[in-house]
Amino acid sequence: MDMTELIRTRKSIRTFDGRPLSKEDKKALSDYAKTITNPYGIPVSFVFLDAEEHGLSSPVINGEHLYVAGKVPKVQHCEEAFGYSFEKFVLHAWSLGIGTTWIGGTMKRELFEKAAKTGEDEIMPIVSPLGYPAEEKAEVDVKLRNSVHGDERLPASELFFEGDFLSPLKEKSDLLEMVRWAPTAANMQPCRVVKAGKAYHFYEKHPDGYQKGAGWDVQKIDVGIAICHLMSVTNGKFSIAEPGIGTEKNMEYIASVTVE
Ligand SMILES: Cc1cc2nc3c(=O)[nH]c(=O)nc-3n(C[C@H](O)[C@H](O)[C@H](O)COP(=O)(O)O)c2cc1C
Repeated sequence: MDMTELIRTRKSIRTFDGRPLSKEDKKALSDYAKTITNPYGIPVSFVFLDAEEHGLSSPVINGEHLYVAGKVPKVQHCEEAFGYSFEKFVLHAWSLGIGTTWIGGTMKRELFEKAAKTGEDEIMPIVSPLGYPAEEKAEVDVKLRNSVHGDERLPASELFFEGDFLSPLKEKSDLLEMVRWAPTAANMQPCRVVKAGKAYHFYEKHPDGYQKGAGWDVQKIDVGIAICHLMSVTNGKFSIAEPGIGTEKNMEYIASVTVE
């Protein structure tokens, strides 16, 4: 499968067939994890955790034996960098037939943080089970997918714009379809893109009442994933330079990708 196909076919896998990951697959994943970089230059580390050994589980996951936890230093842009790198891992796992689900909420966070030996100066925003997809989904899986409309996304006209936020993109863009299908926490899809010439400017649309807190912002992870998708199917150049496009008050500029 090429990258476009991987992005189109990846889904959250919450029901596994009960087989442990083969030694070869585990090694292939851990070797790949060591090579992952992101345009922020912020290192993301991957820790593999045996579920039984550490007593780890998630109420929405069935049939798993192994988790991977991602850690990143607590610095500016750590969330976007994390989203970018963790998605590279997720897509590579899928290329090997290994299922994943981004889990930031439905887990006992303290247990995973402890098992992953998370330091004071870092955060462990997300974990994922790793395994082979089962043929049939467990009931909790079906219910969750339905409740977040996991198979759907907002229409492109609500997410993508041309020149400014007043002008929804008119032509269908295969590149932006890659952004549209990016996974997001609770399928909230906070990422907006303004295309201006060769540049794609990425924004985070905050929910009403959003206040910048001291903790990390899960929706910045979502935007990092979206940037990863566009960069993975282009030779795009990454930059952070606020383009001065008029925005609504709840829109925050994140970064730009220029595609020649
Ligand atoms: C940052 C992030 C956090 C997420 N946290 C959870 C979670 O705690 N539990 C869960 O079951 N799914 C979680 N998801 C998965 C989303 O619900 C899922 O990606 C979305 O519904 C779209 O479905 P898809 O991944 O199958 O395309 C998370 C996804 C992201 C990107």
